[in-house]
Amino acid sequence: MSKFPKGFLWGGATAANQLEGGYREGGKGLSIADALPGGPERFKIANQPDFDWQLKPDQYTYPNHAGIDHYHRFREDIALFAEMGFKCYRFSIAWSRIFPQGDETEPNAAGLEFYDQIVAECLKYNIQPVITISHYEMPLNLVTTYGGWKNKQLIGFYERFARTVLTRYYKQVKYWMTFNEINSALHFPVMGQGLVASNGANDMQNIYQAWHNQFIAGAKAVQIGHQLDPTLKVGCMLLYATTYSYNANPVNQLATLKQNQAFNQFCGDVQVRGAYPSYTESLLQQYGFSFNDLDTTADELALLKANPVDYIGFSYYMSATVDVTGETQDKASGNLIGGVKNPYLKASDWGWQIDPTGLRIALNEMYQRYQKPLFVVENGLGAKDEISADHQVNDNYRIDYLRKHIEAMAGAVDDGVDLMGYTPWGCIDLVSASTGQMSKRYGFIYVDLDDNGQGTLNRYPKKSFSWYQQVIQSNGAKL
Ligand code: BG6
Repeated sequence: MSKFPKGFLWGGATAANQLEGGYREGGKGLSIADALPGGPERFKIANQPDFDWQLKPDQYTYPNHAGIDHYHRFREDIALFAEMGFKCYRFSIAWSRIFPQGDETEPNAAGLEFYDQIVAECLKYNIQPVITISHYEMPLNLVTTYGGWKNKQLIGFYERFARTVLTRYYKQVKYWMTFNEINSALHFPVMGQGLVASNGANDMQNIYQAWHNQFIAGAKAVQIGHQLDPTLKVGCMLLYATTYSYNANPVNQLATLKQNQAFNQFCGDVQVRGAYPSYTESLLQQYGFSFNDLDTTADELALLKANPVDYIGFSYYMSATVDVTGETQDKASGNLIGGVKNPYLKASDWGWQIDPTGLRIALNEMYQRYQKPLFVVENGLGAKDEISADHQVNDNYRIDYLRKHIEAMAGAVDDGVDLMGYTPWGCIDLVSASTGQMSKRYGFIYVDLDDNGQGTLNRYPKKSFSWYQQVIQSNGAKL
């Protein structure tokens, strides 16, 4: 028997910059992702103080330029999603297709026409589009000329972008999200906030100022969405990493509580409750500044209060473990959140600690805190796949990962959590955000493309393709 409610949104998730390609077609401008070099060192390189964001094709590769050529193959890709039985498809709209420099007053018609086709293609198969307005792909000009999200002018630019796409698609698209993984900026301000060493990423005050500006921009998107149609669902999107104390040492327990506030809770608290939480000042003081040092106005705070999000979308890949007392020296690797290794967990090939029970805990933690619907909009296993001569990929490890996470979601539904849907990440193989690799694959569909940009780009369903098809068909009963 299925534990999942009728109408549960099974689907998959992608982001424009990681699959579309066509980076200069249809009048598109450069995005921050277009200027990121490929390879595992991409963020280290972009964070060098003298990194100037000019394209240097002699020196670097740029895997996001071609993506997996979804720009030309989206019909084939969406047909495969339909074959799996997707009820929804989460994708993002590349801001730089609609406003190539970010600061224009009129949108680029060809960019909108591209997304008209994507939306139409989804609806043709009764797949509900779920749109992320901004997913790690702000126009590069907003980084180089304006200094990223710490600049308040970006609120107006984003508002224009959000109004344009909401107005164009609100009759066809019910589910929206404002900013992908907004809280990731705490460790990783490049992609979400356009902040790098050369424009102030090393100053935490800039990150919090950028967040404030994004909160206001997001509240405007919620307001516009609801003005267009009060039944529209506009959510936030968080990167959630369930966080444990390494042991029962109260000092570690307190540090865990603080890490939860700083990373998992702060951005959600503001966007869901419409107000800064009680611990804000103590959080900021540890970086040596006060809330009063941020540029905020009474009108902005009122706007925030009046426009909380309708639901919480979040990604969940791994959990984190805190040990500030130094009781273990075993550091977790490849994990954005950092911390130490959890002795009870295994890790992926990239060191991300696999923890399905942590997802059930995350769902309970968030639902108890907010009592608003939750949507798991990213989850999955980045792995190296082997393809046989007859194009078979036996990705049992991926099936096992996803099965256990779906069981954890079923457990949370039993616990009383209001869960809207599940869109595993990279439902078709695409370019990795953190490493710029193709070899870190998440998909149900194999794409013949390697880390050097070589391959036929042919699509091949993996074993997990038919497995997920039966999961959707049975509404999560057959795992
Ligand atoms: C999330 C992002 O952090 O995780 C995606 O929203 C990203 O854009 C995904 O691709 C997986 O991370 P990675 O680095 O393995 O691609």
